[in-house]
Amino acid sequence: MPVPSAPGTVTLPALPHWEQPPPDLREATRQVKAAIRARIEASGRTVEEVFAVVAQRLAAEVVQIAAARERGEEVWPVIDYADIAAGTVPPEAVALLRRRGCLVVRGHFPREQALGWDAGLVGYVEGNGFFESYRGPGDDFFASVGSRPEIYPVYWSAAQMEARQSDRMARVQAFLNAQWKHESEGVRWFDPDRDSLYPDRIRRRPPGTTSGGLNPHLDPGTLDLWMTSEYQQAFRHLFDGTVEQYDPWDAAHRTAGPQYPGTTMCSAFRTFQGWTALSDMDHDQGVLHTIPIPGAMAYLMLRPLLADVPDDDMCGVTVNRAFPASEKYHAPLLPALSGIPDVRAGDSVWWHCDLIHSVAPVSDQRGWGNVMYIPAAPWCPRNERYAPSVLAAFRTGSSPSDFPEEHYERTWPDRFAERDLNATGQRGLGLDGEC
Ligand SMILES: [Fe+2]
Repeated sequence: MPVPSAPGTVTLPALPHWEQPPPDLREATRQVKAAIRARIEASGRTVEEVFAVVAQRLAAEVVQIAAARERGEEVWPVIDYADIAAGTVPPEAVALLRRRGCLVVRGHFPREQALGWDAGLVGYVEGNGFFESYRGPGDDFFASVGSRPEIYPVYWSAAQMEARQSDRMARVQAFLNAQWKHESEGVRWFDPDRDSLYPDRIRRRPPGTTSGGLNPHLDPGTLDLWMTSEYQQAFRHLFDGTVEQYDPWDAAHRTAGPQYPGTTMCSAFRTFQGWTALSDMDHDQGVLHTIPIPGAMAYLMLRPLLADVPDDDMCGVTVNRAFPASEKYHAPLLPALSGIPDVRAGDSVWWHCDLIHSVAPVSDQRGWGNVMYIPAAPWCPRNERYAPSVLAAFRTGSSPSDFPEEHYERTWPDRFAERDLNATGQRGLGLDGEC
């Protein structure tokens, strides 16, 4: 089998790119797929040969994950907050985190503090008449869970802000950010020790809930992952036939580029998505699952190039909809889907931004399922660009611009006040240079 050419010996065909959604998505898909195929084939291997390398590696990983689950082992790595704080995380635990791309942080916050935040959130929404004024889900994505508010479009409570600007949160975010390669090509792609404050919502799912869950999907982007210049460079090893060199932990070219707008978009670059548990949750009560293989992105990005996918189709990926992982195109990955272990209020749960994830269905749920969504979103050009709109939303109690324009909190007098920001909160909002 021919080996990939050494860099510089072949001029690779250029890729067409669109920095905004192309007017004709199907035509652009046809063009970019043909160009990526030509580029891969210039490496001396066919698309099928390159894809086979990826599929084989992943198959081995899927078998190991399924076997671990069969043996009754926990697939999700678990690390104690105390070890992160003390810098005593065992090397094998770090290795497992990097292999699986997901993590439970035990005791991230004291349980009583998390339960207090949960009670505080109830007081905040009830005291402000939220349930009387609630107008139903404001976006397409979560509408499938029903008209009862499980996802509260609430961003600026004391509970959320205290958690976001806490030292404990900053320590865990820095630990997670540090798993990524943040400097290369003479560029510092992000600052691992400073997070931008990314406001997101809360979920409170009551006992007795019956829910269909959420199908496997991923959140880093949609067609922009193939079609914008920066993402084409971020995934350069996938698109030029050097898949062996693809590193899912390399932040190069991921932290400045544009994203195609849509209801599922996230303006921020997140190293990890995450949430903090505000109630105890058992592993079989409709919880988060992931396919815990960061390198599976190679499969997702190359799968549309195979001959069984129509030329104008990216395996169902399109703008304004979550990126699906489906039985039809991604079946070999799905046996690795693994749920979180039991968690307690105050634990936090994290997954690499490229991981496929889902929420399991549940009937007649036991206990509450309450979380605050707080990711790790380190300071970088993209997050710096988003920060002024976050600050404006904070000051006015508005919904952040990544979310539907619901603005429930604008008139709520007890939302978190600017005078209560600490240094971490100020830096997270980009306020450090303002005064
Ligand atoms: Fe998601």
